[in-house]
This record gives sequence, structure tokens and C-alpha cells, in this order.
Amino acid sequence: MAAIKKILMLPGDGIGPEVVEEVRRVMGWMEKRGLISFELEEDLIGGSCIDEYGVPLRSETIGLAKSADAVLLGAVGGPKWDNVAFDVRPEAGLLEMRKELGLFANLRPAVVFDALADSSSLKREVILGLNILIVRELTGGIYFGEPRGVETLPDGGRRGYNTLVYTTDEVHRIGRVGFELALKRNGRLCSVDKANVLECTRMWREEINRIAEDFPSVELSHMLVDNAAMQIVRDPQQFDVIVTTNMFGDILSDAASMATGSLGMLPSASLGSLDNSGNRNALYEPVHGTAPDIAGQGKANPLAMVLSFAMMLRYSFNMDEVADSIEHSVESVLNLGLRTRDIMTEGKTCVSTSAMGDAVIAALEKLYK
Ligand code: IPM
Ligand code: MG
Repeated sequence: MAAIKKILMLPGDGIGPEVVEEVRRVMGWMEKRGLISFELEEDLIGGSCIDEYGVPLRSETIGLAKSADAVLLGAVGGPKWDNVAFDVRPEAGLLEMRKELGLFANLRPAVVFDALADSSSLKREVILGLNILIVRELTGGIYFGEPRGVETLPDGGRRGYNTLVYTTDEVHRIGRVGFELALKRNGRLCSVDKANVLECTRMWREEINRIAEDFPSVELSHMLVDNAAMQIVRDPQQFDVIVTTNMFGDILSDAASMATGSLGMLPSASLGSLDNSGNRNALYEPVHGTAPDIAGQGKANPLAMVLSFAMMLRYSFNMDEVADSIEHSVESVLNLGLRTRDIMTEGKTCVSTSAMGDAVIAALEKLYK
């Protein structure tokens, strides 16, 4: 009998529900095929949760996430909530979820499908065959550092401040993930920091060098973040795995996404540490946002969401074979010339969100015939 996996679905705001819907259909296909059984729960996060409960995330939802085998999240935020109090804005719900589940390791692969080489704003020869993995620290750094705030000064001016902070343990924990993934890939790890200006990231660099001793077969390099941003658009192929801080990873992953043609193509996995029984908390979400301008119109690209689900199968359920099949299916629908609006180029066929989902499922059917 197929394994039963408990998934918490958090569609969120904007295009979140539409793209999650396409994953639900892929899940249904897997169940029909007898590959797995899902027990799905659904809850609110972000703006939709604010509308219903006045907060972007409820403790009940954190509980559900902890007891689920994995969480699938769409996206959160939108202009509708621009004026809510800062500590209950939609994004705060996502950050709290990451923190509460201890999801310190954020894996953001940027892979260029050959068929999309012309959708990138970069030259074809620069990005053809690109396959890099950004490992972003996700529960520390300036996103969470204290003290933080905005205060009013005696002269009536204001002073805003945030704190960039990492401990050795935090650096080692994410560093090891970077080294281990480099071992499984092409053996190269580039650690990105701003060691020429920020003491905290100077210490980051020293600690990464320290754990490098445990991974003699990985070729380690260091790069300053400004240079890394430039290199990602100049010659992204030089990278294999990049490991970096929370904020630098946020920025570099958006830059890397454009190399792949669209933010609508980038999946991500956020992982906690393994417990004694070999389980860990995990959340899978696309890197893209809620795209409120096209929400509800069937124009969203569901592929980053579908690819995030493939990452779930790979990292949470060890179902590499089905994950491979889903990735191949995405590739084959692109090869057929189907495109959502964000990746549309001349001569291709522009399709809706659900038509893209249909095509992925048809491609899966073909693989499993
Ligand atoms: C991301 C997003 C989030 C982040 C926002 C929505 C809080 O940009 O996942 O990259 O900054 O981490
Ligand atoms: Mg971001």
C-alpha cells in the first residue's frame, strides 16, 4: 500500500491559491496512480489570514505545520495589506512560520531549461545549461537580529536600526548543508559575504573556512556579495553551490531567477534539522511573490509551485523517481512550446495556469504509460 503523507496546504494570497491548485491536481494524479496517499489539511496565512483573524499566522496553524510531514505554501502579501501594522503584515506570518519550524536551510536551485534560454534577459550562451543552487540561511541574520526598531529622536528626526547577527553554531549548521550539497553535485562551494565591511560576515568567512577542513574534497571559494551579484549576471555558470546569509540569499536568488527566464520558474525548499527519528520540518514554496496584478485571471505560471512540490517528494519523502518525472514533465511541456505569459516569447503558445497544469499531467501520464 502506498505511504500516507500528511501535508499542510497554505495557499496564501494573490496567485498563491491558483498555483497551489495545480499542485493539488498533480497530487491527485499520484494518488490515482497508487504512488502515494495524501492527507491534506488547509489553512490561512498572510493577508487572507489577516482578513479572517486579524493576524497573519495563528498558533493553531504552526501546530498543524509541526505535525504535518511537510508544508506546501503558495505566496503571501499584496498592496491590500500595505497599511496594516508592521508586526502583523502578511510577510510576518511567513517569517514566523520559518522561525517556529526552525527552517534554517533554504535551498533555491536556479536551473535553465533549454527551451527557456530565450526567455532570459541574459544572452543565450551565458545561461544555456545553467544549474546553480543557492543555499540561503533562513532563520537568522538581519531578518531576526535584535535590537531592531525605529525610534524618534529629540530633534524630531527618526532613527531606524536592525542588527546583523550570526553565532558560530548558525554558520556551521548552514555551512555544512552547503558543503554536503556540493559533495552531491559538482564539488564546488562559494560562500558569499561582505567580509571587507561587516565584522559579522568576516566571522562567517572564518567559520566556513574552519568547517571546510571536514570537507577536503569540496573546492571552497569566498566572494563578496557585490561581486557575486555582478558575477551572477556576468557568468553564472562559474557557480555550483552558493551558501550565504539570509538577506544576501534573498537578493541573490531573485537575481539568479532572471537568468532562468522568470521568477515563475524558481522553486524552493526550507528545511529544519533532522530529529532522532530522521524526520525534519520542511516547507516548500516558490520563490515568486503573489503577483496581485494578475491574481485570479488564470495567467500565473504554476511551474515554480509544481517544481517546489517535486522538491518535497525528493527531500521529504525520498521519492526521487517521481520528482525526476515531474521535472521531466515540466521540461517536456516547455519543449512543446507551451508558455504562460511571464515566459512567453515569439512563436510559442501562450496558455493559462490550468492549461499548463493539464499539460504537466498529460506529460506525466505519458511517462507512466
Ligand atoms: C522570499 C521573500 C520573503 C523573504 C518575503 C516575502 C518575506 O522575498 O522568500 O525570498 O524576504 O524572505
Ligand atoms: Mg525574496
